[in-house]
Amino acid sequence: MVYETRGAKNISQIAGALLRWYDANARTLPWRVGPHLRKAGQKPDPYAVWLSEIMLQQTTVASVAPRFLKFLARWPDVGAMAAAEADDVLGEWAGLGYYARARNLHKCASIIDGEHGGEFPYTEDALKALPGIGDYTAAAIAAIAFDQPAVVVDGNIERIVARFFAIDEPLPVAKARIKQRAGAIWPQQRSGDFAQGLMDLGAGVCRPRAPNCSACPLINHCAAQRLGRAEDFPVKPAKKPKPLRKGAVFALVNAKGEILFERRPEKGLLGGMLGLPGGPWTDKLGKTVTDAPAVAKWRRAGDVTHIFTHFHLTLDVYVGRAPKGFRRTREQQWIAPKQARLPTVMKKALDLALTTKGFEK
Ligand code: ADE
Repeated sequence: MVYETRGAKNISQIAGALLRWYDANARTLPWRVGPHLRKAGQKPDPYAVWLSEIMLQQTTVASVAPRFLKFLARWPDVGAMAAAEADDVLGEWAGLGYYARARNLHKCASIIDGEHGGEFPYTEDALKALPGIGDYTAAAIAAIAFDQPAVVVDGNIERIVARFFAIDEPLPVAKARIKQRAGAIWPQQRSGDFAQGLMDLGAGVCRPRAPNCSACPLINHCAAQRLGRAEDFPVKPAKKPKPLRKGAVFALVNAKGEILFERRPEKGLLGGMLGLPGGPWTDKLGKTVTDAPAVAKWRRAGDVTHIFTHFHLTLDVYVGRAPKGFRRTREQQWIAPKQARLPTVMKKALDLALTTKGFEK
């Protein structure tokens, strides 16, 4: 019966079914030691597990895979990353979003290198004390890198567990119950494979829409499937619309065809990243030209939109030529457009500016 998971026999049946499925269906991922090599005794590199988990917070497996390999080639171990300049780590991160992750990545590498003798701690509590490592990431590293029986609950696992137990509380209130229920089926052995097996099941079978229940190794234990309502779980909270914000950015070009960029303040959205100069992002659009970096003949190129976690942004993009005698400030730099490593929203704005007639060199 679906709700009787407390008995050791049921736990081992459920874990056994999932692990057998994982042995046959595990995805090949660049940070992963697959189940066969794992059984043959190969241990995952905690540095690679940590790096991948930080990159995978809020970013998809498909986007992370090539970028992870670039990071690993450039900084093959934690000592190498600790020795890097923070700006180089941020630059390599460009386009991956949520830039606080890149700053914390570098801080965390320095702490591991300087205070932990280059070795990652293996308990959830010790991992959680490090920058950028929250509950989920600590559990994922403890389980995947060290096979600790830590209960890992990411979005995929949350969905599987909510369906498996037909949890009808809406998210995010249901999170505590989901974690507790996940703990009830979590095995003591092969914890890392179990976590990754659930992640793969969530990505390929127990999908958000149109789950492929007939291919699921847990079909005989799943309460939502038994009710014929797999897609109804997890129950979503009522949605609030995202507020709209507006702003303006200015692409100033010099005689060499370089563009003026500004490093954004460390604190706040896109902190520490390069951007086109411009004013604040607010819910009203005021006299934007007063936010321009120079007195110039500004032409409006159009606008770009970008969706952040908490709001939609529309940026008006202006283009202009640097006036004679223009001097940049200390925070500003001239960069050839192809050389600029920009966050996605600024890349969109620059691309629009560069396609503006009469502006391209
Ligand atoms: N998503 C987050 N961590 C992951 C992992 N280790 N494997 C696959 N998908 C993931």
